[in-house]
Amino acid sequence: MSETLHRQHKAHLDNLLSAYRSLMAQYDYDSIALYSGHATPHYGDDQMPSFQAFGHFVHWVPLWEAEHSWLVIHPDKRPTLYLYAPNDFWHLPTMLPEEPWVAEFDVQLCTDAITPPLTDNTAIVGDIAALRASGGALANGQANPDALIQALDELRIIKSDYEITCLREANRLAMAGHEAAHAAFAGACCELDIQLAYLAASRQRESHTPYSNIIGMNQHAGVLHYQYYDVSAPKQRYSLLVDAGRRFRGYSADITRTHVGPDAPALFEALINAMHAVKDRLIASLTPGVDFIALHEQMHHELAEVMIDHDLFRGSREAAIAEGITRAFCPHGLGHSLGVQVHDVAGLRTASGEPAPAPENHPALRLTRTLTPGMVITIEPGLYFIPMLLAPLRNTSLPINWTLVDQLMPCGGIRVEDNIVITSDGFHNLTP
Ligand code: GLY
Ligand code: MN
Ligand code: MN
Repeated sequence: MSETLHRQHKAHLDNLLSAYRSLMAQYDYDSIALYSGHATPHYGDDQMPSFQAFGHFVHWVPLWEAEHSWLVIHPDKRPTLYLYAPNDFWHLPTMLPEEPWVAEFDVQLCTDAITPPLTDNTAIVGDIAALRASGGALANGQANPDALIQALDELRIIKSDYEITCLREANRLAMAGHEAAHAAFAGACCELDIQLAYLAASRQRESHTPYSNIIGMNQHAGVLHYQYYDVSAPKQRYSLLVDAGRRFRGYSADITRTHVGPDAPALFEALINAMHAVKDRLIASLTPGVDFIALHEQMHHELAEVMIDHDLFRGSREAAIAEGITRAFCPHGLGHSLGVQVHDVAGLRTASGEPAPAPENHPALRLTRTLTPGMVITIEPGLYFIPMLLAPLRNTSLPINWTLVDQLMPCGGIRVEDNIVITSDGFHNLTP
């Protein structure tokens, strides 16, 4: 694989270079300088939170942890990578990998956190506020020009063969973690031990995951971004939801699976199977030209059918949607763009750069675009029993079968999530 990967990376860099050069000509910049960013110590302390470099920097350079570093793209010479490599006996010195991509850059190792020499007519892109706050000198140049950033974001939404290879590999590694998490749940482990089994099998430390893994048992499965790991196993095991990822060269997998526990009602397992079928039907309809808002609405039609088929709702499909019932049972969007950021850029714009915000009745939708080949997206339908969202419905005469809903409350909820690349004639599922 690595020969293919390096060849694909070279083609990816060649294409990026010509796209950046066109943008420099269009907007009349001498160069574009991408700042990787840096972590800031906790207040009053010398300890740092985990860090990921700015997405546009990682789009070129797979050093996704590089801090205080710069990449400067010129119209007529190789890009210059100013890589921060302090003389530091407290830490392992920065080393460049022995990989062919390095030869595409003029690399300067910098012992100090510098700002490179730039002309007034350079576009400087990155977390300039953090640079200023850290006392970093801001060179001449134009900081974060809107039109250019939109154009750079647009370059990120269509993935190259290199990026798709990285995303596929991130998925393969993450799935090993998901299998181990499922086995740990079957072995009656607690949330923390399931997380540790996931990390071990996916070969990563916790600070390297692309987002905080969501490992929720029972009602925690209904907390959309559940953020803790219980250290003891509950007596009753109804459910486990694992939403957990992996990076590969900075590219993120974002996969969710929900598992039935021994104490769940039989209906819960039937609903998990139904939600897999919903996911697979939505994926089967992916092809260039699909409007993602319409597909999100199709998810709500599917959810209404699932609720009616399983006797959770005794009204019509139209009523389940019009009365906001499916939204109370699934308050998040169908999916989002995926890349060097787990929620990748440019999801809420049209291809020509116009703002395309989420519809008013679906405010959490992060992707409103028409699908085109090369986009990588998640498809993640869910069905949850969230007390806060169901409470207002309980005071209505809507024909919700509360007896069944109450039996399912201890299960928390269901989400299933795959990562998909749109191809010229349909789609390819990257999640094994
Ligand atoms: N893991 C966050 C998400 O699925 O969007
Ligand atoms: Mn997820
Ligand atoms: Mn997701």
